[in-house]
Amino acid sequence: MGRLDGKVAVITGAASGFGLATAKLFAKEGAKVVGADVNPKMPEIAAEIPGEVVGIVADVSKKEDIDAMYALCIEKFGKLDILCNNAGISGCQVPLHEYPIDVLDKIYSINVRGYLMVMQGGIKLMLENGKGSIVNTASIGAFKATPLSVGYLQSKASNVMMTKTAAVEYVKNNIRVNAICPGIFNTGIIDGMSEEIREFLGSQIPMGRIGEPEEFANFALFLASDESSYITGQAYLLDGGRDAL
Ligand SMILES: NC(=O)c1ccc[n+]([C@@H]2O[C@H](COP(=O)([O-])OP(=O)(O)OC[C@H]3O[C@@H](n4cnc5c(N)ncnc54)[C@H](O)[C@@H]3O)[C@@H](O)[C@H]2O)c1
Repeated sequence: MGRLDGKVAVITGAASGFGLATAKLFAKEGAKVVGADVNPKMPEIAAEIPGEVVGIVADVSKKEDIDAMYALCIEKFGKLDILCNNAGISGCQVPLHEYPIDVLDKIYSINVRGYLMVMQGGIKLMLENGKGSIVNTASIGAFKATPLSVGYLQSKASNVMMTKTAAVEYVKNNIRVNAICPGIFNTGIIDGMSEEIREFLGSQIPMGRIGEPEEFANFALFLASDESSYITGQAYLLDGGRDAL
C-alpha cells in the first residue's frame, strides 16, 4: 500500500535535484506522475523512473508550455491531486548595487511569474477535482540573507507569500498549499555557486553537511499526502539546524 495510491501529481523541475528525487519517491508510493522540465532529456529521464511516470519538456516561464503540461496530465491520468511547483534558477552572485536587472528579470520570469502561472493552471484542475495539495519549493533565503544573491532571495521570499495567499484563498475548496524552504542541498542549483558562497553556506549548518535531495522528497511526500490534512499556509525550513543558530 503506497502513501500516494490513487493520486496524480505534477512536478516541475523533475529532471534533476529535488524534482527528480520527488518524482521517484511519489511514483514509488503509488502516485501517477507528470514530470516537467526545460531539460530536453526530461521524457527519457521520466521513462527510467520505476512506476507510472511521464515526462514533458516544458519551460515554466511560458504559458503555452504550462498548458501543454496540464493537458498531458489530464490526457494520461484524468485529474490533478498534487502539484510540486519546484523548477527554479538561482541567478548570479553579485553585490546588490551592481546586481544585473536582466538577471533579475530572468529569475522573476521563472521563480515568480512562472510559479504563479503553474499554480494558476494547477488550481483550476484542483477546483474541478474538488481537492488538492500544492507544495511550493521556496528557500531558507526567504527568511535569512545570504550575501550577493539579492535577486534569488527576493524571488524566494515571494514564493512564501504566494503560498500563504493561495492557502487562504482556496482553503474552502479543499486545496492545501504549503512551502518547503530548503537550506543548502546537494543538487544542480549549487553547481553555479562560487566556492566562497559554498564555504559560507556550509559553515552555517550545525549538522555539518548539506542536505540530500531525498531528504527534501521525504518531506514533500508528507505535505503532498493526506497525512498532512490539517496543514495549510505554512513554510517549513529544512536546513540541518541552520536557522536555530
Ligand atoms: N539546492 C538547494 O540548496 C536549494 C535551496 C533552496 C531552494 N532551492 C530550490 O529548489 C528548487 C529546485 O532546484 P534544485 O535545487 O533541485 O536544483 P536543480 O538545478 O537540480 O533542479 C532544478 C530543475 O529545474 C529545471 N528548470 C530550470 N528552469 C526551468 C524552467 N524555466 N522551466 C522548467 N524547468 C526549469 C532545471 O532544468 C532543473 O532540472 C528551485 O526552485 C530552487 O530555487 C534549492
